[in-house]
Amino acid sequence: MSRALVTGAGGFIGHHLVTRLKEEGHWVRGVDAKYPTYTDVNADEFQILDLRRWEDCLEATRDVDDVYALAADMGGMGFISANHAVILRNNALINLHTMDAARINGVSRYLYTSSACIYPEYLQTSADVAPLKEDDAYPAAPQDAYGWEKLFTEKLAEYFSNDFDLDTRIVRFHNIFGPYGTWNGGREKAPAAICRKVAEADDGGTIEIWGDGLQTRSFCYIDDCVEGIHRLMGSGYRQPLNLGSDRMVTINELARIVIEVSGKPGLSLEHVEGPQGVRGRNSDNHRLREVLGWEPTISLEDGLETTYWWVEKQVRAAEG
Ligand SMILES: NC(=O)c1ccc[n+]([C@@H]2O[C@H](COP(=O)([O-])OP(=O)(O)OC[C@H]3O[C@@H](n4cnc5c(N)ncnc54)[C@H](O)[C@@H]3O)[C@@H](O)[C@H]2O)c1
Repeated sequence: MSRALVTGAGGFIGHHLVTRLKEEGHWVRGVDAKYPTYTDVNADEFQILDLRRWEDCLEATRDVDDVYALAADMGGMGFISANHAVILRNNALINLHTMDAARINGVSRYLYTSSACIYPEYLQTSADVAPLKEDDAYPAAPQDAYGWEKLFTEKLAEYFSNDFDLDTRIVRFHNIFGPYGTWNGGREKAPAAICRKVAEADDGGTIEIWGDGLQTRSFCYIDDCVEGIHRLMGSGYRQPLNLGSDRMVTINELARIVIEVSGKPGLSLEHVEGPQGVRGRNSDNHRLREVLGWEPTISLEDGLETTYWWVEKQVRAAEG
């Protein structure tokens, strides 16, 4: 069993990943700038560190075999489209320092969590977009600073792998959702935001959707995400790999599934102005199937059922 570091362990995917690594019997250190928001610490050791700082990265990466680099200053479209400079600065510092400290401390394997946001905006201008293949990343033209920084760190991982023989993995997540994710406060993403709005609304009322709701995305449930991370880490594959569902839905369809789950059939959608991101996006999973012999299997309906009732519980608790 290995000794693993999960950065961003106080966050959504980090929480689930630590749980999985512990179930497999690994020793796990979690590091984050904050303690987990909705759960207890589930790692063997949990350190509060600021990974923008070099000394903190040296401290975080000592005496471990594997690093799962998840820490990032990030959020949904509302946050990403309004904080370009801060996102680029913070995440560039986190990623440069964490990767170099891992090299200096003799880490064996390093998994970097990239994003579908690296794909060029010019390939995502219509709702019925073709699924995005890994090689579509270039010529590069991500929409936001968040995507540029992710792309930069992908290259960093590639060069560290070539020049220093750090055994790297690069995973491009496509809209991961599930319980224990941010659901309020401005950093929440579309599935959690819609679950919250539905939970807060009375049957017969309305929920707000940003834009016309015809923008498209694919959504991947957290348990599939963690399974994919596990398989990729064991695969030896060092090139970027998509990890997402290839079932594309409109945001209106996403909202209707949540409404169905909630048992409030009288709810209707009200379209308002708001940041929408690219018009359409989907994951091409050919390479995922080829490399891992697997792809996500949990349906959007099943994932939203679990997620909605978790968010609903948080909403009720917050209402006191
Ligand atoms: N959730 C998704 O749909 C999605 C999609 C694409 C990529 N990703 C990537 O996956 C990773 C995990 O995402 P998540 O959804 O769990 O996000 P999250 O925001 O829940 O978790 C990220 C964690 O990083 C921590 N962090 C931020 N700045 C830090 C710092 N200076 N030092 C230490 N910790 C710091 C935050 O406190 C947070 O707990 C991120 O790198 C993200 O960019 C996620």
